[in-house]
Amino acid sequence: MLAGGNLEAFRAGLKIASEDIPMNINELSVGLIGGTGEEGRGLALRWALAGAQVSIGSRTIEKAKSTADELNALLAARGDAAIQQIGSGENKDVIARSQFVLLTVPFAHAASTLEAHREDFREGSILIDITVPVSFEQGRVRYVELPEGSASEHLKARLPENIPLVAAFKTEPAHLLAEIGEPLDCDSFVAGDSKEARLQVMEAIGFIESLRAVDAGTLYSARTLERMTVLAIGINRRHKIKTARYRVIGL
Ligand SMILES: NC(=O)c1ccc[n+]([C@@H]2O[C@H](COP(=O)([O-])OP(=O)(O)OC[C@H]3O[C@@H](n4cnc5c(N)ncnc54)[C@H](OP(=O)(O)O)[C@@H]3O)[C@@H](O)[C@H]2O)c1
Repeated sequence: MLAGGNLEAFRAGLKIASEDIPMNINELSVGLIGGTGEEGRGLALRWALAGAQVSIGSRTIEKAKSTADELNALLAARGDAAIQQIGSGENKDVIARSQFVLLTVPFAHAASTLEAHREDFREGSILIDITVPVSFEQGRVRYVELPEGSASEHLKARLPENIPLVAAFKTEPAHLLAEIGEPLDCDSFVAGDSKEARLQVMEAIGFIESLRAVDAGTLYSARTLERMTVLAIGINRRHKIKTARYRVIGL
């Protein structure tokens, strides 16, 4: 399943024909740094359901394995034989074997985690940054201002130059991602300075059921996307819900 006309228009702009970048979701490897957390678990489940080869990463191998076992039990209960088992490993091993590496740790630990694993990325891989810098002060959620303008721009400098960083999944609520019986029914904004990397991430997201990838442009847009997450958290709190998210109308 592709992301529809939106993706086709983006391809046309890039002058890339669909057949130039064939993507077989069953061969796509997705690794999650800190995939043992709430957001990581939900994304692991959604990617596994899409058909990708998913690996949960952790600082400890035991925690990675127990999380993967738990998620595999959830998937097995659905009785879908086509789904590949979710694997596990220490963060460094998961990074080394994955084409898409998702950074799913709290923002406060994101830079140190990337610096520790700078050399572990394989050629041709893409880092997908989902982090949002927020603080909770006196019961209020606040965006943490950074000199670079956004978490993604802050983190980009921590990666080797040959590894593109793409911001995605910033606005998808963890609670809903983990509810695999529920449709996501929302848009997934994708931003990054490498058009090719952006296209690959959009194409892969298009395989996730009920999620539409939307081209959000260069990494500069991460400044807006991260603040949209803060807005969604505030809406959740005021309306006593957990699933506020975004859909572009007219696209
Ligand atoms: N929650 C949402 O709705 C939502 C929405 C959009 C984006 N996000 C972003 O998603 C990211 C993950 O959120 P989350 O709620 O899943 O986070 P979390 O559960 O608090 O943490 C995720 C994982 O990060 C690892 N971690 C914790 N402290 C660490 C440290 N000092 N160094 C390295 N790794 C550490 C842990 O894995 P191990 O102990 O296994 O290593 C932990 O399980 C955040 O950046 C958040 O801003 C969240």
